[in-house]
Amino acid sequence: MSEHTPNPSSPATPSNGVKSMDAIMALCKRRGFIYQASEIYGGINGFWDYGPFGAQLKKNLRDAWWQDMILNPCWGRKGPNGKRVECVPVETRIIQHPKVWEASGHVGGFNDPMVDDKETKQRFRADHLFGIFVVETTPENADADYRKIMDRWQSDNSYAPLFTCVASTEGEAIDQFAPFIKKLAKARKLDIQKELKLQDSNHRADVVFTTDKGVMLLGEVKQIGERRLKQIYGDVPSPFTQKSGVLTEPKQFNLMFYTFTGATAGPEDKVYLRPETAQGVFVNFKNVVDTCRVKVPFGIGNTGTSFRNEVTPRNFTFRSREFEQAELEFFCHPDESVAWYQFWRDFRMEWWKSIGLAGDNLILREHEKDELSHYSQGTSDVEYRFPFTAPGFGELEGIAHRGNYDLTQHAKVSGAKLEYFDQERGELLPNGSRRGEKYLPHCIEPAAGLDRGALAILCEAYSKDESRPSPEVMKIHPRIAPIKAAIFPLVNKDGMPEIAEKLFDDVNARFGKLGFIESDAKQSIGKRYARMDEAGCPFCFTIDGETPGTQTVTVRDRDTGKQDRIAIDKVVPFLAEKLQG
Ligand code: GAP
Repeated sequence: MSEHTPNPSSPATPSNGVKSMDAIMALCKRRGFIYQASEIYGGINGFWDYGPFGAQLKKNLRDAWWQDMILNPCWGRKGPNGKRVECVPVETRIIQHPKVWEASGHVGGFNDPMVDDKETKQRFRADHLFGIFVVETTPENADADYRKIMDRWQSDNSYAPLFTCVASTEGEAIDQFAPFIKKLAKARKLDIQKELKLQDSNHRADVVFTTDKGVMLLGEVKQIGERRLKQIYGDVPSPFTQKSGVLTEPKQFNLMFYTFTGATAGPEDKVYLRPETAQGVFVNFKNVVDTCRVKVPFGIGNTGTSFRNEVTPRNFTFRSREFEQAELEFFCHPDESVAWYQFWRDFRMEWWKSIGLAGDNLILREHEKDELSHYSQGTSDVEYRFPFTAPGFGELEGIAHRGNYDLTQHAKVSGAKLEYFDQERGELLPNGSRRGEKYLPHCIEPAAGLDRGALAILCEAYSKDESRPSPEVMKIHPRIAPIKAAIFPLVNKDGMPEIAEKLFDDVNARFGKLGFIESDAKQSIGKRYARMDEAGCPFCFTIDGETPGTQTVTVRDRDTGKQDRIAIDKVVPFLAEKLQG
């Protein structure tokens, strides 16, 4: 669940650093992608609904995952064992036996440290608190004074920041602090002449202001950290009001939602809403092995809604309290597990690229050894540079080597025997067969978030080209685009509507299963194109005055705005090639 700042080798001006999240959110609302849940009641924090185009976009993303992970895993590629990758799906319930979550460790350990502002009653995650330490200096003394802040930060656990904010990454925090420093300068009657917001720590400070009167303000931004906050919470300014003495000590807060089953609803009826889909797979591992013709190595996929009572849901749908996951648990022999881990890690990165997230906004980050769970031999995150994390990245999917931790835990707590008997392993017998080997398979888990995936796709797709009559264009990959094509009669007369209607029927019959096919005869053609550009429709076909005579239509490419003429009977083959349908 990490969001992190990039290493200094990342490009200095990332292509997503300049996209405005406000503009993306406004477009998502205007074009029916994403709405605030319960908006007419003022909304509910951490919950988002999808409008017609958003619902279809997410379905296309889910379908793409299902197609490439379950029905034709890894595009038919062979795994490290030289054989086709095999996967099957399950669909498991949100509510499971409460012991499932005891065994998985979620009841005891799925916690975030939480802090309250006693006055405003607002709450934030301790590990999301950033502070800025400011020093007023002169250009000559800047280096020495900066060193003093850094030394004090390192040696003095009671050193409290001047201002604080809640942020996911250092980059986000740096942006939030600049206005505070400006206020500080104003209060000191200093005129700011130069402002620098540096985003990597090779520089002198994260925020540097040069003012008149030869004064410099250096600001060093630091994540306070739960341990330090426990010691100095009384002195730390609230991120909401900048007032000290109003924060509570960080307390562990379990992220699981719960409810009660049955009419009596006593404590013994307490059940949890799943915080991940993965456990539904582990508890059905034996069922799948016993009832389906699967042999290790194989994967079991599960998609569906998960719930986490996030302390600070934020950044649009990125950190929501209800979200959808698409998880695969791939079971293999322990000796092959590292090779499978590397295989899945590389495939998942390629997969996200294949649906339009290619470029410098996508990275695969291998966790450091000290970040790994004790049972894991490797974890990587596919991370995307969202506009709100830029220049840092936010996790889209984690690919974890989970060893046999989950099956061991469920075997221990439930008493069920979850070992797998592998007939193709063990000593070779005189009759040419194998003795067999019993073992608990290791598991490689590519765990993706579909809401974060949809958000990354929307952010990547959003582009602004002021030279176009409709500057905002959603360049959504055709496979994921909710509208696949639009058919327009140029004007509503001269036989054009009838031809458009017939073409619509042909296109809809063939591609309607993949997404919306739009038809629209109202407004100017420019306005219709603009609407389709904002909704991310990759191709618009227009029946114009030439069509009856030449049996041709224009096809307009959303990304370039360029129009070509093609024969009307080539429209279906054209789309088949472009949509791979
Ligand atoms: N079974 C492992 C697991 O659940 P995770 O990293 O906690 O791992 C997997 O979650 C993915 O689920 C994340 O990479 C992210 O895409 C998505 N996810 C997790 N918490 C989320 C939240 N609060 N809101 C939206 N998506 C979330």
